[in-house]
Amino acid sequence: MNFMYRLTPLFFICLSFFSCIRKTEETKGIILGFSQIGAESAWRNCNTRSVQEAAAEARVQLLFFNAEQKQENQIKAIRSFIAYQVDVIAFVPIVSDGWENVLVEAREAEIPVILINRGARMVSGNIEDFTVCLVAPDNVYAGELLARTFINSLGDESGPIYVAEITGTIGSSSAVDRGRGIQNVIENDDRVIIRYSQTGDFNRTTARHVSDSIIRTARAEGVRLQGVIAQSDDMALGAMQSFIDAGIDPGRDIKIVGIDGIRDAFEAMVKGLYYASVENPLGYGDATIAILLDLLDNGKKPDDYWVVLKNKVYLQKDAAEALPNRKY
Ligand code: AHR
Repeated sequence: MNFMYRLTPLFFICLSFFSCIRKTEETKGIILGFSQIGAESAWRNCNTRSVQEAAAEARVQLLFFNAEQKQENQIKAIRSFIAYQVDVIAFVPIVSDGWENVLVEAREAEIPVILINRGARMVSGNIEDFTVCLVAPDNVYAGELLARTFINSLGDESGPIYVAEITGTIGSSSAVDRGRGIQNVIENDDRVIIRYSQTGDFNRTTARHVSDSIIRTARAEGVRLQGVIAQSDDMALGAMQSFIDAGIDPGRDIKIVGIDGIRDAFEAMVKGLYYASVENPLGYGDATIAILLDLLDNGKKPDDYWVVLKNKVYLQKDAAEALPNRKY
């Protein structure tokens, strides 16, 4: 049974009441408190669904909060989970810093915490002493794969090749690590120059507005952009629409690449408008529930702190065959 609550102040009042009654011994079954970032992208919504479906299948009760892109809402939700004495807490840290106090409180309450999709770090102490594990892809590798895919598409074209980079949420481990991976590859090819780099906050609309501004600046500076390297498909698709509106043909004048592997990206690839997408794996739900059950039933943590989910790249030529099987 999933408890889906929209995050409102009223709801926190109600939950405070809930926590007064506490989870009693009579409460049957395992309760997982899950604090999700929000619904900023198609991929995020599927990430949420993967946890909800895995919890339902394992008959784990899910207390779910959508933080609507605010860290303070995630912290409030985690405190409510602690007050309600859930069995396990899982959350996607919207940014890497600022979790010290609430993670200390969870440890004092002896409630295990699983990090999903993004990492967190502690100023004082080791995150591995306050959380069970991190279930996430290697985003440095994802950034390297994305940039290498773009460079491979250039063949022996001579430089300079000017590119716009659209980055994710500032301070999030996904954006930091993907940016590092992209830089690791681009810095070894002196043809390619990241001329503009702006954050799209992992959001399609934001990325479209940011791209409008980049296009205006490039035109004013007489710069011909030949590529967009975006840290998520939603942002790449926002940029794509912006270039189309500016009369720039993404199938001919500019190559656009992103990360997530969402259906819209495959459909754009089939139309010849999008060059490649690095899939962001979705197996978080199954992995998280398996870890939770092993922890509660057998007292066993994963062998490694970082449970790595693998990325894979899909090129335009692969898209038509892969599209029918894309779940999200
Ligand atoms: O942390 C992963 C990123 O967060 C995804 O690539 C993006 O879609 C989401 O917003």
